[in-house]
Amino acid sequence: MNFELSEEQIAVRDAARDFAQNVLKPEVIERDRDQRFPTEEMKQLGELGFLGMMVDPKYGGSGMDTVSYVLAMEEISKVDASASVCVSVNNSLVCWGLEKFGTEEQKQKYLIPLAKGEKIGAFCLSEPEAGSDATSQQTTAIDHGDHYVLNGTKNWITNGSTASVYLVIAQTNREAGHKGINALIVERGMEGFIVGAKEDKMGIRGSDTHTLIFNDVKVPKENRIGEDGFGFKFAMKVLAGGRIGIAAQALGIASGAFELALAYSKQRKAFGKEIYKHQAIAFKLADMATEIEAARLLVMKSALDKDNDRDYGQSSAMAKLYASKVAMEQTIEAVQIHGGYGFVKEYHVERLMRDAKITQIYEGTSEVQKIVISRGILG
Ligand code: CAA
Repeated sequence: MNFELSEEQIAVRDAARDFAQNVLKPEVIERDRDQRFPTEEMKQLGELGFLGMMVDPKYGGSGMDTVSYVLAMEEISKVDASASVCVSVNNSLVCWGLEKFGTEEQKQKYLIPLAKGEKIGAFCLSEPEAGSDATSQQTTAIDHGDHYVLNGTKNWITNGSTASVYLVIAQTNREAGHKGINALIVERGMEGFIVGAKEDKMGIRGSDTHTLIFNDVKVPKENRIGEDGFGFKFAMKVLAGGRIGIAAQALGIASGAFELALAYSKQRKAFGKEIYKHQAIAFKLADMATEIEAARLLVMKSALDKDNDRDYGQSSAMAKLYASKVAMEQTIEAVQIHGGYGFVKEYHVERLMRDAKITQIYEGTSEVQKIVISRGILG
């Protein structure tokens, strides 16, 4: 088994690290405080090729592998998980979904600007009463011959007000259950499409999370992704890859907190010596490093499964389940190592602790990952 990264993968990781440390870090505390989306920073990430990382260059992407994507996600998430969730949704859910299942016309019209970062995409599945239970879509897309009429509400939509292309999952034929669901490409500005209230969140406060409302929105039939009734499977397939991105985000939050705690432990003195020289702290650091490395191996395994065309439904669910648990637990430890300083914003770890929680919730809660994993094990 080869654990070595290629030169190209190392270069991508280092470029993402430089960007995160030099461009994202300086104002990340203020953006979190003010709930401000990193507009200018996302534009730069797009120009550098980080918003269409795995897309074929003929569609405006960077043509990289999933391992490179994971490495970039880890570095960006060490500093700014609000920026990295935008990177993740655009890459894994929107661009990948369009490249894999879109028509050539859809790719020309929507994928190219999304992959170049000229436009930002959103993925709209969750509803007020359909979160984990994703087959219970209440949003309807009624067939009117050459178009669908879309009605309903979507909740907690990442990139809600900054996106201009939305992949919306909706029910066309209720009797057919999950086989009656479609995925439609909705453009910002279509009549009857309203961007609703912004959420005031505990973490990832710089990301732009909104309710979306669809009132008789006419969506042309050519905007449907795949065959009639493919929408639920589309969502599941896209989310299986999306979970690799969120697992990498969780890994980055954990490893970012660990790096801060390690550095702090070498500089802070208590009882006459640097605190890392106390076994209580050294053992905490040892546990943190071990847990984070185990999460990294699971994340890399799922990325390699995807790159090698192996089934990655199981491995991505395992990576997300474990990495998000590690992120939550190890950010708490990082705050503890910082003592009182960990509880104030200036030291970054309290933000990472707040950001960690969402990785156990979005793109399928930890309980959803366990459903996926247990079904895989039990058949
Ligand atoms: N690939 C392909 N097909 C799949 C699949 C996959 N990964 N998973 C399921 N399917 C298929 C099944 O084979 C089945 O098809 P058949 O009937 O033809 O065999 C069909 O889909 C229905 O599958 P299930 O019976 O397993 O469906 P279920 O109702 O029991 O639900 C679930 C399973 C795993 C709980 C699913 O509903 C789920 O993943 N829920 C969570 C949804 C989620 O992740 N939401 C996050 C919102 S997006 C987000 O957070 C983005 C963001 O902003 C950051």
